[in-house]
Amino acid sequence: MRSDFFQQQSGDVMTPIRAAYKGVMIGNMGYTAAEAEQAIADGKLDAVAFGTGFLANPDLPARIKAGAELNQPNPATFYSPGPAGYTDYPSLAAAQ
Ligand SMILES: Cc1cc2nc3c(=O)[nH]c(=O)nc-3n(C[C@H](O)[C@H](O)[C@H](O)COP(=O)(O)O)c2cc1C
Repeated sequence: MRSDFFQQQSGDVMTPIRAAYKGVMIGNMGYTAAEAEQAIADGKLDAVAFGTGFLANPDLPARIKAGAELNQPNPATFYSPGPAGYTDYPSLAAAQ
């Protein structure tokens, strides 16, 4: 994680980790698809994981591929019980 949910930690932790650690490095925390692609192309990361982006967009890869608009995740439903905020975000097909 390159930062924390509360924006307390905002310094660059990825560069020193990359310099010290030669294994596979997967980054996350708020990456856009373009930013992820760039970080991998630059050799800064081996892969990028999408958490909240996937939560809000069940069809995230298709949306990225199509250059479609993304649903924004709603932090109010993070860690909540029941299906709200987990299975009720619309897919592209449902939105059309
Ligand atoms: C609802 C919710 C549940 C999560 N549960 C876990 C978990 O069980 N274990 C974990 O390591 N990270 C968990 N995370 C953190 C994510 O894996 C990820 O590090 C974080 O969402 C930042 O990446 P993102 O900007 O792509 O969402 C959770 C995040 C959310 C929003």
